[in-house]
Amino acid sequence: MKKLLISTGGGDCPGLNAVIRGITKRALQEGGWEVWGSFEAFNGLMEEPSRLIKLDEKNTAGIHVLGGTILGTTNKGNPIRFSEKQADGSIKIVNKIPDLVAKLKAEGFEAVINIGGDGSQEISQAMYEAGFPVVGVPKTIDNDLSSTDFTFGFQTAVQIATDSFDRLVTTAASHHRVMIMEVMGRNAGWIALYTAIAGGAEICLIPEIPYDLDEVVEKIESRYNKGRGFVNIVIAEGAHAKEGSITSSQGEEGRISVRLGGVAYTLSEQLKAAGIDADIRETVLGHTQRGGTPIAFDRVIASVFGVKAFELVLEKKFGQLIVLLNNEYTSVPIKEAISAYNYVDPKGTLVEAAKGLGISFGD
Ligand code: F6P
Repeated sequence: MKKLLISTGGGDCPGLNAVIRGITKRALQEGGWEVWGSFEAFNGLMEEPSRLIKLDEKNTAGIHVLGGTILGTTNKGNPIRFSEKQADGSIKIVNKIPDLVAKLKAEGFEAVINIGGDGSQEISQAMYEAGFPVVGVPKTIDNDLSSTDFTFGFQTAVQIATDSFDRLVTTAASHHRVMIMEVMGRNAGWIALYTAIAGGAEICLIPEIPYDLDEVVEKIESRYNKGRGFVNIVIAEGAHAKEGSITSSQGEEGRISVRLGGVAYTLSEQLKAAGIDADIRETVLGHTQRGGTPIAFDRVIASVFGVKAFELVLEKKFGQLIVLLNNEYTSVPIKEAISAYNYVDPKGTLVEAAKGLGISFGD
C-alpha cells in the first residue's frame, strides 16, 4: 500500500472538507493507496507520537457539506521559520523542512497534498525543493491568486456578505441611516466588489482604489438630497483614503489598518468629522464570512480540486498547484503561483460595470 498525507494549513475556508473528501474518494477508487490526514497542518505529523488520522469512506462521508476542516488547521508552527525554544529560554528561528521531510519518509509517505494559502504553498515549495513529492491545492476566500479564476470559499464569502448586506438595506431604509459594512479580503477588494454589485450598494471602497473622502461625502449627501434618505456602503478591510483627501481633524489618512474592524469605524469617524449628520452604523462581518457550509459553486470547485490533485499524484506531476484557469481544471508550478497575486483592476470591466450601476468608489 502506498501512503498519501493530506494537510490543511493557514486560515480555514468553506470547501476544505470537500477537497479532503474528493482526494480520499478518488484515491480509494484507484486502489493501492492509504490516505492519511495530519491534524493542525503538519504539526500533527511532527509531534511525538504523531497525530494522524486514516481517512476512509466512512469518516469522510458527507463532509463536503461541512464548514471548517475535519483535520483542524493553524497559522502557527511554520516549518520554514520555526520558533524553537533554546535551553537558555531564548527563541531561535530554525528551518524545520529537513526534519519534516525526514518524518514523512520515516512514516512511509509517498506524497503529500497540501491544501492552503500562500504561506502553506511556500511550505509545499520548500518540501518539493527538498526532494519530497508534493501537490498543492490553493485556498483563500480572498480570491487574490492570479493563477486561478476562482479559489473555493470566495463565492461562499460573497453569498454570506450579500445576505447580510440585504438585511442591512431594510434597516438602513427604515431608519434613514448610513450603514457601513466591512468585509474581509486582506489586500484585495474582490469580496467587497462582488457584494456591492450583488447587493446594490451605493458606495464600495476597496484597497485598489483609494477613496477621496469628499467624493464619498458628496455621494451620501446627493442620496439624502434626492429624498432617498439612506446609504449602504461596503468597505473592504484593506481600503484606505487617498493621500491628501483627509484633513487632520478628520483622522488619519493612508492605510489605517488591515485588521478586522479597523476601517468601518475609521470611515465612520471620517464621515462624522466631514459633517455627515445622518445616523451612521457600522457592521463588521469578520469570520462569519469563513464559517459554515460552502455554497454549491465552491463545493464543486473544491471537490474537483481534490480529485484532480490526487490525479497529479498518480501522474507524478509534483511541485504543481491545481487551479481553475480559463474555466479548465489544470495545474501550474507552485513557485510561479505563490508570488502572483490578482487584484481588482480599477479600470477593469467589473469596476466599470459597477459604476454603470451607480456604485461610487469614491474616486
Ligand atoms: O486570507 C483570508 C482572511 O480571512 C483574510 O480575508 C483576513 O484578512 C484574514 O484571513 C484574517 O485572518 P485571521 O483569521 O488570522 O484573523
